[in-house]
Amino acid sequence: MGQPESPVLAVNNLTVEFRGDDGWVSAIRDVSFSIGRRECLGIVGESGSGKSVSALSILRLHARATSRISSGTIVFNDRDLLKLPEPQMRRIRGAEIAMIFQDPMSSLNPVLTIADQIIEPLRLHQGLTAAAARKRAIELLGLVRIPDAARRIDDYPHRLSGGMRQRVVIAIAIACQPKVLIADEPTTALDVTIQSQILQLLKELQSELDMSVVLITHDLGVIAQFADRVVVMYAGQVIESAPVLDLFGKPLHPYTDGLLAAIPRLDGEPGRLKSIAGSIPDPSVHIPGCRFSPRCPEALPVCHEIPPALLPASALRWSRCPPRLAAFGAIADTP
Ligand SMILES: Nc1ncnc2c1ncn2[C@@H]1O[C@H](COP(=O)(O)OP(=O)(O)OP(=O)(O)O)[C@@H](O)[C@H]1O
Ligand SMILES: [Mg+2]
Repeated sequence: MGQPESPVLAVNNLTVEFRGDDGWVSAIRDVSFSIGRRECLGIVGESGSGKSVSALSILRLHARATSRISSGTIVFNDRDLLKLPEPQMRRIRGAEIAMIFQDPMSSLNPVLTIADQIIEPLRLHQGLTAAAARKRAIELLGLVRIPDAARRIDDYPHRLSGGMRQRVVIAIAIACQPKVLIADEPTTALDVTIQSQILQLLKELQSELDMSVVLITHDLGVIAQFADRVVVMYAGQVIESAPVLDLFGKPLHPYTDGLLAAIPRLDGEPGRLKSIAGSIPDPSVHIPGCRFSPRCPEALPVCHEIPPALLPASALRWSRCPPRLAAFGAIADTP
């Protein structure tokens, strides 16, 4: 639990812009977070908060013609991924940093067998012979708990259930034993029982394969169960990050209060689900102060005027809410 001294991957002050009708628009602004060895880092936030844009930036998967990274670094193995030539980046993608994409339907090719789809990355990145790659592919299907792997490997994706297909997607992602696995809403399309089986599988693989996992979700319940640390995003910014228990115990941003209040509780009265009034602003809308201030029940006049920085509250806790930080005693403790 917690973040070791030297992170495996660190995103620092990342700003990504997309070309809009009236010029460039920032989809994420000044985003910073890091992932420790064997850590499961959760990234949570409402739809449109910038979770996927952040994840895709790590692998440099945004289209060059319509997007640009206007500031920041992404440090992996002491190198800034944003400065690597494309051939080197290609060697990292899938092999050292792998990703499970948000859209489950596009993850598997319906006209290729499972074997074809798992064997390809093994031959490409690890130079295995066809026979060795097939043997390894069967092992991988076993690793993701697909029963009767030696027979299922020659099936086409449509022969498998949604949960089994997602296991194949995970097998492909871990094929080259990546150091970091980014899972963007890996269970959105699955029903609740299958969802928790898949998340449990990811958790087991994380420790079996010594991986760091970035788990992206809009569901704080999933974060509570599976993540060690959590980054909360709002309107393209990180607004708070903390070890999970600290975040649930004492949120340091009013937006996080709202997210926590929106979790349905088994012990709560039915129908008392609170949610945050208003909606996330469009990235092109200029907001002079804190981007949450128009929706914030605790906003002070200054919050509407000065954009706050993400500041440390303690060694592992950060917040972008100056009044909460002051109440926590964080500013005085900060050197
Ligand atoms: N290719 C693109 N071109 C233009 N704008 C984009 C593009 N991709 C994302 N955006 C914008 O960037 C912002 C962040 O989007 P992102 O997909 O990262 O949200 P998200 O947090 O992953 O949401 P969800 O929970 O719905 O997946 C949104 O306002 C979105 O419209
Ligand atoms: Mg997304």
